[in-house]
Amino acid sequence: MQKNSKRDFGSFHASNVQELLELPETDYQPPAFPVSIPKFNDYQLETGRPCRQKHFLLEEDCTFINHGAFGGVLREAMDSTHEWQRYVERQPLRFYDRELLPHLVYVTRRLAKFVCCDPTDLVLVVNVTTAINAVVRGLDLKKGDVIYILSVTYGAVKKLLQFVCEATGAMLKEVQLNFPISSKDQVVSLVGETLDPGVKLAVFDHIPSNAPVILPLKEIIEICKNRGVPVLVDGAHALGTLPLDLKSLDPDYYVSNAHKWFCCPKGSAFLYVRKELQSQTRPLIISHGFGSGFNSEFIWAGLHDYSPFLAMHVNMNFWEDIGREKIQQYMYKLCRDTCDLLTSLWNTKLAAPKEMFGCMALVELPPQLYSSDTTVTYSTGEAIQNQLYHLYNIEVPVKCIQGTLYVRISCHIYNELAEYERLGKNVLEMCETKMNLVQNVN
Ligand SMILES: Cc1ncc(COP(=O)(O)O)c(C=O)c1O
Repeated sequence: MQKNSKRDFGSFHASNVQELLELPETDYQPPAFPVSIPKFNDYQLETGRPCRQKHFLLEEDCTFINHGAFGGVLREAMDSTHEWQRYVERQPLRFYDRELLPHLVYVTRRLAKFVCCDPTDLVLVVNVTTAINAVVRGLDLKKGDVIYILSVTYGAVKKLLQFVCEATGAMLKEVQLNFPISSKDQVVSLVGETLDPGVKLAVFDHIPSNAPVILPLKEIIEICKNRGVPVLVDGAHALGTLPLDLKSLDPDYYVSNAHKWFCCPKGSAFLYVRKELQSQTRPLIISHGFGSGFNSEFIWAGLHDYSPFLAMHVNMNFWEDIGREKIQQYMYKLCRDTCDLLTSLWNTKLAAPKEMFGCMALVELPPQLYSSDTTVTYSTGEAIQNQLYHLYNIEVPVKCIQGTLYVRISCHIYNELAEYERLGKNVLEMCETKMNLVQNVN
């Protein structure tokens, strides 16, 4: 293994990163924090508006039920990034040369424990897009190779896959998942019927963005394994919304954002890679750690603000101290109650059985919202979404799926039923003024 020059990171070599990550828990001594890291012990969890006022920075009067889009940071985690930033600038040499890498190792070790994997199999990256690009660019794609996806795959990821397929002569096989979904068996059967052995890579969203059902991943991964197909799971919405046990799930690659449902500051995510595939998975940014092992290669991507990674301690404290199940139970229950509320108020249906949704759901909008002669498109949805924002200050996305319009509701710990009641009532009010809406489409 190539060693870096001492000058790269002061006395801490990039190759030390590997050594520190490999140390058993009993022999590992974490570095002391130079900033305060809040804990939430003995803390009575407040949900809904009091939680929002205490722990989030959201504007008072906005009905913010679109956490799924760009997340929303935990106030204490944001404060922590600021503290780290100020600390860095007090003595930048000391921080970047002597302290940063041991701290990155520490947060990596802790996050690995949180998602149940070996710390040497996990690296921190700024977002899921970067992680997926690194995986896909590491594939040795050739003419005739096939990459497999479902139609619900995230749009930007589809573009990346189209790009690499065009560049190499590989083929992108996109399989249509029809809505409304009847059961998780529908998804499992579809994958079982359409995934051929020999596929170079299958990509599945754990929770697709436009159609946020929790995909039956265990069963899907089982199918991939039986057919010898490597599988990349895009869990952009997973960390913070469901218990992640990568050891038992056993994917080949798993990526998740921390800056979405886990409420970390923007620019925090992770990439997990099975050991045997790590040597072919290189970072997009080649820097000092190159040639020193998987973790060393990813840990330094040039000089930038690493504080969102370091602030992750605060979010882990929040989830651990308050209780992951408690947080999840609140979000899931709110989502299911909202599904009942809106489907009964609008007399419409969900895009899938209620049990398949977690913290987000797709609820069909009342068809009275648009004229019967309107061809429903993405733009119709966009116009409705814009009206909800401009007329009522409600931030909720409208999705057009196979000719039907749905709202995608998000339910986080700071949301409460009153917000979805407001949405329900205002949509009914908009039904009265649908001509206005249709004109706005163009
Ligand atoms: C399923 C899915 N994948 C990937 C992404 C991209 O995430 P990021 O922009 O943080 O890289 C998103 C963003 O919403 C997503 O929903």
